[in-house]
Amino acid sequence: MGREARFIVLNGDEAFGAELRSKLLKVEGVKLVAEVEEPALLLQTVQQFPVELLLVNLDPNPEVVLPIVGDVAGANRELAIFAASESTDGQLILKAMRMGVKEFLPKPIDTKALEEAIERIAVDRADAATQGNLITIVGTSGGVGATMITTNLAVELATITGGQVTAVDLDYRYGQVATLLDVDPKHSLADLCSSPETLEPQVIGRALTRHNTGLQVLGRPNHLAEADTITAAACMGIFSSLIQFNDYVVADGPTRFDVSGKSVLALSDVTLLVVQQMVPCVRNALRILENMRDNGYNLDRAKLICNRAGRSSGHLSVNDVTETLGLGLFASIPDDWETASGAINLGEPLLAYSPKSKLRVAIQEIAERLHSPDSQTDDKDTRKQSLIGRIFAAS
Ligand SMILES: Nc1ncnc2c1ncn2[C@@H]1O[C@H](COP(=O)(O)OP(=O)(O)OP(=O)(O)O)[C@@H](O)[C@H]1O
Ligand SMILES: [Mg+2]
Repeated sequence: MGREARFIVLNGDEAFGAELRSKLLKVEGVKLVAEVEEPALLLQTVQQFPVELLLVNLDPNPEVVLPIVGDVAGANRELAIFAASESTDGQLILKAMRMGVKEFLPKPIDTKALEEAIERIAVDRADAATQGNLITIVGTSGGVGATMITTNLAVELATITGGQVTAVDLDYRYGQVATLLDVDPKHSLADLCSSPETLEPQVIGRALTRHNTGLQVLGRPNHLAEADTITAAACMGIFSSLIQFNDYVVADGPTRFDVSGKSVLALSDVTLLVVQQMVPCVRNALRILENMRDNGYNLDRAKLICNRAGRSSGHLSVNDVTETLGLGLFASIPDDWETASGAINLGEPLLAYSPKSKLRVAIQEIAERLHSPDSQTDDKDTRKQSLIGRIFAAS
């Protein structure tokens, strides 16, 4: 049984943030729920998000941060607090411990020491209230099929698990998750964001719209202007609640690197990058992967999906795509315009519209592999040496 550790990070240093993400997100079961830059916002954030762990960067002003840490520790006895600093001054360490810090991590953080500290605190997933997986679908160019994949993957997961699955539309402006499922959500992410108080899972549950397969849907805002009211903090509050009572949360986006994009990626267990055999797609995918790597996101959690594979690809093979990206292919989905557009126009999932089609079977298989990864060959074996890594190592 896996272990789970949810973190809030207090850190105002961008470079250290990237280092921290790269170390934390490498550890299985770690979820980065919120990153706070302002010490003054820490107490409020800790009250908003249920987590096991808080990691604070004490630099450059430990004398400002430590009293706040003390307040947070006093008000949250169950919370385990780690502190990181360049200083190894015994007085500082002692003061931090007195303020409630459990582990003092000298910089640069030793990955093994961090892992061991997390292991001591992590809770058994079996013991925790349901902790669902967040699957994020990222289209690498407009129209690559991200929404078609999101909706159908979510439907397949709901069917396979018979459990709680929610599809969330993160394309705040033009999202079509609800259209593809022919549901008419009364509430959206924007309505939930407009509520000033912390949202209980029950409140969020009531804002979801049920599809006849059992899948729940949280649609994009009804009015375009409402998109601007969504804040990263509110969005993360909603996601952190959603993963508490769902087996899977499947998010279409972030497609246009909106305010909540980075935080959603940090919370994701799996990010499916959707490409087609087109140069602009591959170029964008390279940029996205490069940006994820620079910001410390764990690329082991990124999986490549080639959509519309097999159509006359105009000189670019699937192999060319994977070699260029340095990422093994997780799955490919065949090209079938007639079935895809027919299902979309009728607002039916493929499972209902064309259950035996190769298109549906491909997405069903992706859902099965994500749900039971152990039964499948590990795609890490096929992962190529990172071309991006080589390009940048040479520069
Ligand atoms: N495997 C496929 N075979 C054939 N057509 C497909 C396939 N997947 C998607 N399409 C078609 O591509 C179009 C775009 O799909 P979709 O809306 O899912 O893309 P998207 O990445 O979400 O686009 P956007 O950038 O606008 O959000 C749709 O008309 C759909 O029918
Ligand atoms: Mg879309």
